[in-house]
Amino acid sequence: MDYSNPKLIIETADLEAGTVTWKSPSNLAIVKYWGKFGDQLPKNPSISLTLENAFTETTLEYRPKETAGPGISLEFFFEEEPNPAFAQRIGAFLERLIPVFPFLPQLDLTIHSQNSFPHSAGIASSASSMSALALGLCSLEDNLFQTLNDDQEFDRKASFVARLGSGSASRSIFPYMAFWGQHSGVAGSSDQFAIPLENEIAPIFKTLHDDILILSKKEKAVASTKGHDLMNQHPFAESRYNQARQNIHFLLNALKSGDLEAFGRIAENEALSLHGLMMSSNPGFFLLDPNTLTAIERVRNFREESKLPVYFSLDAGPNLHILYPESVIPEVRLFLESELMPLCEDQVWIADWAGEGPEQV
Ligand code: PMV
Repeated sequence: MDYSNPKLIIETADLEAGTVTWKSPSNLAIVKYWGKFGDQLPKNPSISLTLENAFTETTLEYRPKETAGPGISLEFFFEEEPNPAFAQRIGAFLERLIPVFPFLPQLDLTIHSQNSFPHSAGIASSASSMSALALGLCSLEDNLFQTLNDDQEFDRKASFVARLGSGSASRSIFPYMAFWGQHSGVAGSSDQFAIPLENEIAPIFKTLHDDILILSKKEKAVASTKGHDLMNQHPFAESRYNQARQNIHFLLNALKSGDLEAFGRIAENEALSLHGLMMSSNPGFFLLDPNTLTAIERVRNFREESKLPVYFSLDAGPNLHILYPESVIPEVRLFLESELMPLCEDQVWIADWAGEGPEQV
């Protein structure tokens, strides 16, 4: 698949300045993407839950370039402050996207980006920020050339572009749940972009809750790029990709039939497998906090005693995601506040749930 399009060049002298703003959520992988090849292509398919409350809002301002010249002209503000580190990363990303959006060097761009969650909460924001930016770029293309008025084509291109920024960002484009990666059992699936799973899931999964326990706010000791790289020489790599494919198969069935228990079993198996892979990499690394293990034990004990459907998942970090259906909110919140909240740094946890996907503001 090739989105290079040399025709997307601004030819008129009277281009008007404009603005586009998108709010785009983070997502939690239930079957994880861990290991990649080529240009951000996944070694195995993944399935994610789109969140609602953890999002990035990005505004892209554009106007004709004042001083013509090649390359990207960008000013970048994160939470209203100039941020040179982010500006450099986003600038390099936009340079790479010039074949896809060849009009970018014809513009002066200013980007303002902010997250809904506290900056230092230890929540990875690459999925929400890269998807918000990708959606903004597709809107910008559509404003200038009216090339993306088909919603499905718009989403597919946004997912493709988001993937180039951060693999997991490809999945944030779609409501409730998304699927990314080529899989013979899923029509239309691709390594290049994610697709929506909205019509393949039972209603119970559209109201799933995901409360995020902030067990540690520390920056990640090892970035996910490094973790993906370490999968290339990982002794368990092939078994892992087979395990993921099997979990995909089981999870798709569970999502369709509304089997919450199977969903929870797979979510926990994937979370622990992800961290197991990190520990058995060479060199091995460890992203959990002692309180992560305590919290996992408490969730499992609570489930055993209460017989309620409460499960956990983890991202590439120490913060625990607590997954449960809407029907058990009162019991789970009581448990969370008495037994899990004291384990959180500054007692912070974030209530989130299956979300409706990005929104143009
Ligand atoms: O999108 P990346 O390169 O930050 O990798 C994400 C990896 C995990 O969050 C651990 C799993 C996933 O599928 O989102």
